[in-house]
Amino acid sequence: MQSVASAIRAALLTGEPRAKCFATRDVARRWRKGALAFEFDVTMPPEPARPERPELLAPNRMPKRGKFGSERGRIALWHSLAHIEFVAIDLALDMAGRFGEQMGEEFVSDFLSVAADEAMHFALLARKLERLGSQYGALPAHGGLWQAAHDTRHDVAARLAVVPMVLEARGLDVTPATLERVRAAGDEHGAKILARILDDEIRHVGFGTKHFLKVVESSGQVPSEAWKTLVSAHFRGPIKPPFNDSARLAAGLSRDFYEDVAN
Ligand SMILES: [Fe+2]
Ligand SMILES: [Fe+2]
Repeated sequence: MQSVASAIRAALLTGEPRAKCFATRDVARRWRKGALAFEFDVTMPPEPARPERPELLAPNRMPKRGKFGSERGRIALWHSLAHIEFVAIDLALDMAGRFGEQMGEEFVSDFLSVAADEAMHFALLARKLERLGSQYGALPAHGGLWQAAHDTRHDVAARLAVVPMVLEARGLDVTPATLERVRAAGDEHGAKILARILDDEIRHVGFGTKHFLKVVESSGQVPSEAWKTLVSAHFRGPIKPPFNDSARLAAGLSRDFYEDVAN
Protein backbone atom coordinates (compact mmCIF):
# COMPACT_ATOMS: atom_id res chain seq x y z
CA MET A 1 0.00 0.00 0.00
CA GLN A 2 1.27 3.48 -0.83
CA SER A 3 2.21 5.62 2.17
CA VAL A 4 0.11 8.68 2.91
CA ALA A 5 3.30 10.76 3.00
CA SER A 6 4.31 9.83 -0.55
CA ALA A 7 0.81 10.54 -1.88
CA ILE A 8 0.84 13.96 -0.16
CA ARG A 9 4.32 14.69 -1.44
CA ALA A 10 3.22 13.91 -5.01
CA ALA A 11 0.26 16.33 -4.70
CA LEU A 12 2.58 19.06 -3.34
CA LEU A 13 4.91 18.53 -6.28
CA THR A 14 2.09 18.86 -8.81
CA GLY A 15 2.08 22.46 -10.08
CA GLU A 16 -0.61 22.61 -12.73
CA PRO A 17 -3.76 23.84 -10.94
CA ARG A 18 -6.31 21.33 -12.23
CA ALA A 19 -3.91 18.45 -11.69
CA LYS A 20 -3.12 19.65 -8.16
CA CYS A 21 -6.82 19.82 -7.29
CA PHE A 22 -7.36 16.34 -8.68
CA ALA A 23 -4.32 14.90 -6.87
CA THR A 24 -5.35 16.54 -3.59
CA ARG A 25 -8.92 15.29 -3.64
CA ASP A 26 -7.65 11.88 -4.65
CA VAL A 27 -5.27 11.70 -1.65
CA ALA A 28 -8.08 12.76 0.70
CA ARG A 29 -10.45 10.17 -0.77
CA ARG A 30 -7.92 7.34 -0.66
CA TRP A 31 -6.99 8.19 2.93
CA ARG A 32 -10.66 8.19 3.95
CA LYS A 33 -11.17 4.79 2.36
CA GLY A 34 -8.15 3.31 4.16
CA ALA A 35 -6.23 2.90 0.92
CA LEU A 36 -3.12 4.76 2.12
CA ALA A 37 -0.82 3.54 4.90
CA PHE A 38 -0.08 5.71 7.96
CA GLU A 39 3.60 5.82 7.02
CA PHE A 40 6.01 8.69 6.61
CA ASP A 41 8.79 7.28 4.46
CA VAL A 42 9.46 10.48 2.51
CA THR A 43 9.91 14.11 3.58
CA MET A 44 7.90 17.06 2.34
CA PRO A 45 9.53 19.38 -0.22
CA PRO A 46 10.70 22.76 1.14
CA GLU A 47 8.39 24.44 -1.38
CA PRO A 48 5.48 23.07 -3.38
CA ALA A 49 5.47 23.14 -7.18
CA ARG A 50 3.83 26.20 -8.73
CA PRO A 51 2.31 26.68 -12.17
CA GLU A 52 4.17 28.94 -14.62
CA ARG A 53 1.46 31.55 -14.12
CA PRO A 54 0.53 33.56 -12.10
CA GLU A 55 3.73 35.53 -11.85
CA LEU A 56 4.52 35.86 -8.14
CA LEU A 57 5.40 39.32 -6.91
CA ALA A 58 6.57 40.72 -3.58
CA PRO A 59 3.54 42.23 -1.81
CA ASN A 60 4.85 45.79 -2.25
CA ARG A 61 5.16 45.25 -6.03
CA MET A 62 1.56 44.13 -6.48
CA PRO A 63 -0.38 46.49 -8.79
CA LYS A 64 -3.31 48.34 -7.25
CA ARG A 65 -6.46 46.30 -7.53
CA GLY A 66 -8.65 49.02 -9.06
CA LYS A 67 -12.12 49.97 -7.93
CA PHE A 68 -14.37 47.07 -7.04
CA GLY A 69 -17.15 48.47 -9.22
CA SER A 70 -15.00 48.21 -12.36
CA GLU A 71 -14.64 44.97 -14.26
CA ARG A 72 -10.90 45.08 -13.74
CA GLY A 73 -11.40 45.48 -10.00
CA ARG A 74 -13.84 42.59 -9.88
CA ILE A 75 -11.50 40.25 -11.72
CA ALA A 76 -8.61 41.33 -9.49
CA LEU A 77 -10.65 40.51 -6.38
CA TRP A 78 -11.59 36.99 -7.53
CA HIS A 79 -8.06 36.39 -8.77
CA SER A 80 -6.52 37.26 -5.43
CA LEU A 81 -9.04 35.03 -3.62
CA ALA A 82 -8.30 32.16 -6.03
CA HIS A 83 -4.59 32.53 -5.33
CA ILE A 84 -5.12 32.44 -1.56
CA GLU A 85 -7.10 29.20 -1.94
CA PHE A 86 -4.47 27.72 -4.25
CA VAL A 87 -1.76 28.28 -1.65
CA ALA A 88 -4.14 27.03 1.06
CA ILE A 89 -4.25 23.64 -0.68
CA ASP A 90 -0.50 23.32 -0.23
CA LEU A 91 -0.58 24.66 3.32
CA ALA A 92 -3.05 21.93 4.35
CA LEU A 93 -1.17 19.19 2.47
CA ASP A 94 2.11 20.24 4.06
CA MET A 95 0.51 20.32 7.51
CA ALA A 96 -0.68 16.71 7.15
CA GLY A 97 2.48 15.40 5.48
CA ARG A 98 5.05 17.19 7.64
CA PHE A 99 3.49 16.80 11.07
CA GLY A 100 1.16 13.81 10.62
CA GLU A 101 3.57 11.22 11.99
CA GLN A 102 4.07 13.18 15.20
CA MET A 103 0.39 14.14 15.58
CA GLY A 104 -1.46 10.97 14.58
CA GLU A 105 -4.18 9.71 12.30
CA GLU A 106 -6.95 12.12 13.32
CA PHE A 107 -4.67 15.04 12.52
CA VAL A 108 -4.00 13.59 9.06
CA SER A 109 -7.73 13.06 8.50
CA ASP A 110 -8.56 16.62 9.59
CA PHE A 111 -5.96 18.35 7.44
CA LEU A 112 -6.52 16.17 4.36
CA SER A 113 -10.19 17.11 4.58
CA VAL A 114 -9.10 20.76 4.79
CA ALA A 115 -6.90 20.25 1.71
CA ALA A 116 -9.84 18.79 -0.21
CA ASP A 117 -12.02 21.77 0.83
CA GLU A 118 -9.34 24.21 -0.34
CA ALA A 119 -9.14 22.41 -3.70
CA MET A 120 -12.92 22.81 -4.02
CA HIS A 121 -12.71 26.50 -3.04
CA PHE A 122 -10.01 27.05 -5.63
CA ALA A 123 -12.04 25.26 -8.32
CA LEU A 124 -15.12 27.41 -7.56
CA LEU A 125 -13.08 30.60 -7.81
CA ALA A 126 -11.22 29.50 -10.96
CA ARG A 127 -14.60 28.82 -12.57
CA LYS A 128 -15.85 32.21 -11.39
CA LEU A 129 -12.89 33.89 -13.10
CA GLU A 130 -13.70 32.02 -16.29
CA ARG A 131 -17.32 33.23 -16.14
CA LEU A 132 -15.88 36.75 -15.98
CA GLY A 133 -13.79 36.11 -19.09
CA SER A 134 -10.50 35.72 -17.22
CA GLN A 135 -8.59 32.85 -15.64
CA TYR A 136 -6.28 31.97 -12.76
CA GLY A 137 -2.81 33.06 -13.84
CA ALA A 138 -3.98 36.05 -15.89
CA LEU A 139 -2.79 38.51 -13.23
CA PRO A 140 0.25 38.59 -10.97
CA ALA A 141 -0.23 37.23 -7.45
CA HIS A 142 1.10 37.69 -3.93
CA GLY A 143 4.38 35.81 -3.64
CA GLY A 144 4.66 35.85 0.15
CA LEU A 145 1.96 33.38 1.16
CA TRP A 146 4.30 30.43 1.66
CA GLN A 147 6.52 32.41 4.04
CA ALA A 148 4.50 31.50 7.13
CA ALA A 149 4.84 27.80 6.31
CA HIS A 150 8.57 28.13 5.77
CA ASP A 151 9.04 30.04 9.03
CA THR A 152 7.22 27.36 11.05
CA ARG A 153 8.46 24.21 9.31
CA HIS A 154 10.13 22.79 12.43
CA ASP A 155 7.39 23.33 14.97
CA VAL A 156 3.83 22.07 14.74
CA ALA A 157 2.60 24.33 17.56
CA ALA A 158 3.99 27.39 15.75
CA ARG A 159 2.52 26.22 12.43
CA LEU A 160 -0.93 25.75 13.99
CA ALA A 161 -0.72 29.07 15.85
CA VAL A 162 0.13 31.00 12.69
CA VAL A 163 -1.55 29.27 9.74
CA PRO A 164 -5.05 28.26 10.86
CA MET A 165 -5.27 30.44 13.99
CA VAL A 166 -3.93 33.71 12.49
CA LEU A 167 -4.14 33.56 8.70
CA GLU A 168 -7.30 31.50 8.25
CA ALA A 169 -8.93 33.26 11.22
CA ARG A 170 -8.21 36.55 9.43
CA GLY A 171 -10.28 35.17 6.57
CA LEU A 172 -13.22 34.82 8.97
CA ASP A 173 -12.84 38.52 9.85
CA VAL A 174 -12.66 39.91 6.32
CA THR A 175 -14.94 37.61 4.31
CA PRO A 176 -18.31 38.93 5.58
CA ALA A 177 -17.54 42.47 4.37
CA THR A 178 -16.40 41.18 0.97
CA LEU A 179 -19.53 39.05 0.75
CA GLU A 180 -21.72 42.08 1.48
CA ARG A 181 -19.96 44.17 -1.18
CA VAL A 182 -20.37 41.39 -3.74
CA ARG A 183 -24.05 40.97 -2.86
CA ALA A 184 -24.64 44.73 -2.94
CA ALA A 185 -23.20 44.76 -6.47
CA GLY A 186 -25.88 42.22 -7.45
CA ASP A 187 -23.57 39.22 -7.73
CA GLU A 188 -25.61 36.58 -5.91
CA HIS A 189 -23.56 33.77 -7.44
CA GLY A 190 -20.36 35.27 -6.03
CA ALA A 191 -22.00 35.83 -2.64
CA LYS A 192 -22.97 32.14 -2.49
CA ILE A 193 -19.39 31.05 -3.17
CA LEU A 194 -18.11 33.30 -0.37
CA ALA A 195 -20.77 32.06 2.06
CA ARG A 196 -19.74 28.48 1.43
CA ILE A 197 -16.05 29.32 1.85
CA LEU A 198 -16.75 31.16 5.10
CA ASP A 199 -18.61 28.16 6.48
CA ASP A 200 -15.79 25.77 5.64
CA GLU A 201 -13.15 28.11 7.01
CA ILE A 202 -14.79 28.09 10.45
CA ARG A 203 -14.20 24.33 10.44
CA HIS A 204 -10.58 24.80 9.34
CA VAL A 205 -9.81 27.25 12.14
CA GLY A 206 -11.58 24.82 14.47
CA PHE A 207 -9.26 21.97 13.48
CA GLY A 208 -6.26 24.23 13.98
CA THR A 209 -7.42 25.26 17.44
CA LYS A 210 -8.29 21.69 18.48
CA HIS A 211 -4.86 20.32 17.61
CA PHE A 212 -3.08 23.37 19.00
CA LEU A 213 -4.81 22.82 22.35
CA LYS A 214 -3.74 19.15 22.33
CA VAL A 215 -0.10 20.03 21.74
CA VAL A 216 0.23 22.80 24.30
CA GLU A 217 -1.94 21.25 27.00
CA SER A 218 0.10 18.05 26.85
CA SER A 219 3.12 20.12 27.81
CA GLY A 220 1.26 21.91 30.61
CA GLN A 221 1.20 25.37 29.03
CA VAL A 222 -1.65 27.87 29.16
CA PRO A 223 -2.96 27.82 25.57
CA SER A 224 -3.60 31.54 25.10
CA GLU A 225 -0.18 32.40 26.57
CA ALA A 226 1.62 29.82 24.43
CA TRP A 227 -0.20 31.11 21.37
CA LYS A 228 0.84 34.71 22.00
CA THR A 229 4.48 33.71 22.47
CA LEU A 230 4.51 31.67 19.24
CA VAL A 231 2.71 34.30 17.20
CA SER A 232 5.03 37.07 18.29
CA ALA A 233 8.05 34.87 17.46
CA HIS A 234 6.83 33.64 14.08
CA PHE A 235 4.35 36.10 12.63
CA ARG A 236 5.41 39.50 11.37
CA GLY A 237 2.11 41.07 10.36
CA PRO A 238 -0.43 42.81 12.56
CA ILE A 239 -3.29 41.10 14.41
CA LYS A 240 -5.94 43.72 14.03
CA PRO A 241 -9.66 44.28 14.44
CA PRO A 242 -12.39 44.18 13.39
CA PHE A 243 -12.61 40.59 14.61
CA ASN A 244 -15.48 38.32 13.68
CA ASP A 245 -15.92 37.23 17.29
CA SER A 246 -18.85 34.90 16.69
CA ALA A 247 -17.16 32.99 13.83
CA ARG A 248 -13.93 32.85 15.80
CA LEU A 249 -15.74 31.54 18.84
CA ALA A 250 -17.52 28.91 16.72
CA ALA A 251 -14.00 27.78 15.76
CA GLY A 252 -12.97 27.58 19.43
CA LEU A 253 -10.94 30.77 19.34
CA SER A 254 -12.05 32.87 22.29
CA ARG A 255 -11.16 36.49 22.86
CA ASP A 256 -8.49 35.73 25.48
CA PHE A 257 -6.28 34.53 22.63
CA TYR A 258 -6.24 37.64 20.50
CA GLU A 259 -7.73 40.51 22.49
CA ASP A 260 -4.61 42.12 23.93
CA VAL A 261 -2.29 41.27 21.04
CA ALA A 262 -4.36 43.40 18.71
CA ASN A 263 -2.14 46.17 17.39
FE1 LIG B 1 -10.41 27.95 1.66
FE1 LIG C 1 -9.05 27.08 4.90
